[in-house]
Amino acid sequence: MESNEARVHWEKAAPGWAKWEDIFTQSVEEATRAMLDMAGVEEGKRVLDLASGAGSQTLAAARRAGANGQVIANDISQTMLDHVKKNAAAAGLSNIETLLGSVQELELENQGFDSVISRFGLMLIPEPGKVLSKIFTALKPGGKASVVVFSVPQANQFFLVPMQILLKHAGKSPPPPGTPGLFALAAPGLLEKLFSDAGFENPEVSSLDIFFRMPPADQTLVMMQEAFGAYRAVISDCTDETQAAAWAEVREYLGTLGSGSGIEAPSQVLVGSGSKPER
Ligand SMILES: C[S@@+](CC[C@H](N)C(=O)[O-])C[C@H]1O[C@@H](n2cnc3c(N)ncnc32)[C@H](O)[C@@H]1O
Repeated sequence: MESNEARVHWEKAAPGWAKWEDIFTQSVEEATRAMLDMAGVEEGKRVLDLASGAGSQTLAAARRAGANGQVIANDISQTMLDHVKKNAAAAGLSNIETLLGSVQELELENQGFDSVISRFGLMLIPEPGKVLSKIFTALKPGGKASVVVFSVPQANQFFLVPMQILLKHAGKSPPPPGTPGLFALAAPGLLEKLFSDAGFENPEVSSLDIFFRMPPADQTLVMMQEAFGAYRAVISDCTDETQAAAWAEVREYLGTLGSGSGIEAPSQVLVGSGSKPER
């Protein structure tokens, strides 16, 4: 997806993402902690958070960085960044700045960051290898980067099946290997290789089994419709009738996943990291 197209899709999804962010991100706390640990986010550090969304991980990084540190949240969507600012103010955090723009177009060379993080962003951006090279140049020697992405589709049925249903109704194929998508960086060994090719030493990728604890099917459907930009992008150019039929089938699937009290869906994510050599 070109930057402009991505901007339009994510701008439309931003209010929904911000509305549902808490529910989505509560389930990824362990992965977020691991990402912040692997990126060495601690007191006094300067941190760049790429594709920050509404910023729950930005705020977590800012709490660690403290008054002597700083976190810069980047996103392609201004509305997402407005939510970051609002959430930071509500949390009493004054060490967060925002940076609007597509990651591919940012000038990041020699920015002297201690840490770069990105949660559920890198897989959605074209040419992730180039993005990691860019991240490498943004870090000071000895700095660290860490990202969270989805692992293989088989371990993520809750996200895979709705995507398959939407693609089927839209008459489209899944993104070919090497192009952005939910599972673009899931292939075994790929993320390690991309970190290593970008110049990082000690690239490390661990997989984490987690559960997404979601509301009952009707609400989870609304969340997917309102917040998931990657889903919206698949059917945005379909007729209203096709969209309605596609979402009806997604609702049917969600109904098989849990009772009235909510959906508990197993998932697997990867936490990848690497360090920039001291010199
Ligand atoms: C799945 S959301 C993840 C948001 C957040 N990191 C989180 O984990 O809650 C993906 C985010 O990537 C942003 N995004 C997509 N393409 C981008 C690009 N090329 N450059 C910067 N941000 C981008 C979207 O606007 C969206 O906020």
